[in-house]
Amino acid sequence: MATATLEVNDRFRELLDRLTQKSIDDYYNPYQRFVWADSLEDDQWWMSPELLSVHGTPLFDAYDEKTLKALSKWESINFYSLNVHGIRELLIEVVGRVQTPAFDVPSDFFHHFIGEENEHMWFFAEFCKRYGQKLYAGPPALKIPGSDQHEIEVENFLVFARILFFEEMVDYYNTKMAQDTSLCETIRQVNRIHHEDESRHIAFGRELVSHLHTRMKAAVSAERVREVEQYLKRYVVFSLYSFYNPHVYRDAGLSDPLKVRETLIAAEGRRAAERKVIRKPLAFFLKSGIFTDDVLPV
Ligand SMILES: [Fe+2]
Ligand SMILES: [Fe+2]
Repeated sequence: MATATLEVNDRFRELLDRLTQKSIDDYYNPYQRFVWADSLEDDQWWMSPELLSVHGTPLFDAYDEKTLKALSKWESINFYSLNVHGIRELLIEVVGRVQTPAFDVPSDFFHHFIGEENEHMWFFAEFCKRYGQKLYAGPPALKIPGSDQHEIEVENFLVFARILFFEEMVDYYNTKMAQDTSLCETIRQVNRIHHEDESRHIAFGRELVSHLHTRMKAAVSAERVREVEQYLKRYVVFSLYSFYNPHVYRDAGLSDPLKVRETLIAAEGRRAAERKVIRKPLAFFLKSGIFTDDVLPV
């Protein structure tokens, strides 16, 4: 796994120290901290209406409020399920790197990261099983092109760039729902607590990803760097499309769930909504030179 030790500047070391200390100061026991309602009423918004996958399209106006609320329930269970599966994947990668020579410097922070993500995975799964009696299956993995060639610098960069993107995308939803006073406290609490931990992970991730990008550029050809950019862009689109889940549409009672997914993927009104979700990570990828433009594959 390891190559040369990650070379880092003082700024990164200071950031690591600060974030590690903050993780220690803000440490909580999720098994004690969460107050779970016994049950959640179906007749309420489980997710802010503007976060629904049909928002911004004619389908949003076509469904009555009861249907939209049912959709908000199952879309929220899908959102937390995506978190559970995303966290499993990122934990596997970080566990594979903690206390290896290449990642000696951030290893202290990795311990907090691993501990916190394990707990996030627990509370998201708990929400799904308590209130939805299920977890949705995760999306299939998106294979890295040329990944049979062993290019450690490409792998390291992509692993952490994907983690960062995933965390920033999720944080958009968490922030909105934590602030939405029309949602019940159990829902707001899950989103608020996750957002508080993720602000540390995102600050760390941005710094680490910038370093790993610089290292990758020094190690591989310009053509390979362009391929990696294209792969990451496909990952962005793939992640956005995981919100258009036909199993959710079926559980919400919509007819022709596969057609709903197709319609939404093709709907012009969704592009603006998707751009809002990815505004911050996209701006970061552009500013740091990871993306040379903001054109995404269709
Ligand atoms: Fe998390
Ligand atoms: Fe995280």
